[in-house]
Amino acid sequence: EWADATGPRRVLLAGPRSFCAGVERAIEIVERALDLHGPPVYVRKQIVHNTHVVDDLARRGAVFVDELDEVPPGSVTVFSAHGVAPAVRDEAGRRGLRVVDATCPLVSKVHAEARRYAASGHLVALIGHAGHEEVEGTLGEAPSSTVLVETPDDVASLPAGRPVAYLTQTTLAADEAGEVAAAITGRFPDAVGPHTDDICYATTNRQRAVAGVARDSDLVLVVGSANSSNSRRLVEVAEAHGTPAVLIDGPADIPLGRLAGARVVGLTAGASAPPSVLDAVVDALRGLGPVDAEERTVTVETTEFTLPKEVRTQ
Ligand code: F3S
Repeated sequence: EWADATGPRRVLLAGPRSFCAGVERAIEIVERALDLHGPPVYVRKQIVHNTHVVDDLARRGAVFVDELDEVPPGSVTVFSAHGVAPAVRDEAGRRGLRVVDATCPLVSKVHAEARRYAASGHLVALIGHAGHEEVEGTLGEAPSSTVLVETPDDVASLPAGRPVAYLTQTTLAADEAGEVAAAITGRFPDAVGPHTDDICYATTNRQRAVAGVARDSDLVLVVGSANSSNSRRLVEVAEAHGTPAVLIDGPADIPLGRLAGARVVGLTAGASAPPSVLDAVVDALRGLGPVDAEERTVTVETTEFTLPKEVRTQ
């Protein structure tokens, strides 16, 4: 049966939302590499996990590949914001690629911690999701000393006999990471780790903001692509605060059935989702009736990262 999605509504805009400093830097690196060298510029994996960003850069001459054996020797090649394992750097060297590294500095920091703990004889428990590119890169720093831990139950299978250190993926939900960390320190009381976790400022801020908005909304829409870890966590955080939430890649995905009866809609975007796509979602909502949009900002972000020297102009 047809549910009527039209009518006036309030839209609560969670702030911060959308691009973080690491994503802005990664996109700018590809743009500058294209300006400096001309197309094609090869990019290993999606530069950030967003279909709009990838399609836009592809139109401008970026060529996205899964692995470096698809890149002609000597080509300009960008590593994505999620980071790479040392084995990938080695392969780039063997192939004579001109690498520009767009790894987010906050991911590089976790890599450095993994190396440091492994070098001091620790077993490194990496809290994260199997198969995510960031996790694959971090695991690759010290493969024989690092074990992925996805859930509190996984902690039981960690080998005993070595001092334990733990690290986390940068885009987890704080509560879920905390539960796994607590299981680790429960079994290994001397385990060392970051002060709370390695979840980055942008992930933390977007989760706090969506939690506040979810409490006052009938439905939360999260703009982001299906493979974006931090966007998926925003859906889970909204749901944990009792409000149904839907991940949408753009205006075409707005769930009209769910929107019927939702007079207050919370809206946010993952760190890899462009502000222009969120604006298009607001415009689409306006097409369904008058929208009263309200900013709900929990904090203002000022983090900025410098560009790598390969694409700096002066
Ligand atoms: Fe970096 Fe966090 Fe963004 S790790 S890429 S600042 S989501």
